[in-house]
Amino acid sequence: MVSTSAILSVVSPFLLAALLPLAANAQAALTCGVLGWDALGAAPAFYAVNNPASATPAACKKLCQTPSITPKCASFAVGNSSCLLYTNSAANQVNANTGSLYAYYDVNCAVPAAVAFSA
Ligand SMILES: *[C@@H]1O[C@H](CO)[C@@H](O)[C@H](O)[C@H]1NC(C)=O
Repeated sequence: MVSTSAILSVVSPFLLAALLPLAANAQAALTCGVLGWDALGAAPAFYAVNNPASATPAACKKLCQTPSITPKCASFAVGNSSCLLYTNSAANQVNANTGSLYAYYDVNCAVPAAVAFSA
C-alpha cells in the first residue's frame, strides 16, 4: 500500500512548482483604471466621499492609504465626483463596462500625480 504522505511527497514539489509562479503573478497583476460598475454580489464601498477634489485617482489613492483606512482598503473607484473605497481587489470588485462613470484601481496602482492647477 502507498501512503498518502508518500504520494504527497512526490506530487507536492510539482504542485509547488506549478503554483508558486501563479502566486507571484497574482501579486504583480494589478487592475488599474478599469471602467465598470460594482460586480453583482460584491460588497459595496465601505467608505465613500462625494466631492470633485477627492474624485481623482491620486486623491482617492491617498485616502485609501490613510493609516486608519489602509487595513481595509484594497481598491478604490473614482468617477461621478466620488471616491469609493473597497475591501475587495479591483479585479474582484469591478464588472467591466466601458459605459460606466467609474474607474477602478487596486491600491498599489501607479496613478497620475495630482495636478496642481494655476490660473
Ligand atoms: C452620481 O452621483 C449622484 C450624487 O451622489 C448619485 O445620485 C447618482 O446616482 C450617481 N450616478 C451614478 C451613475 O452612480
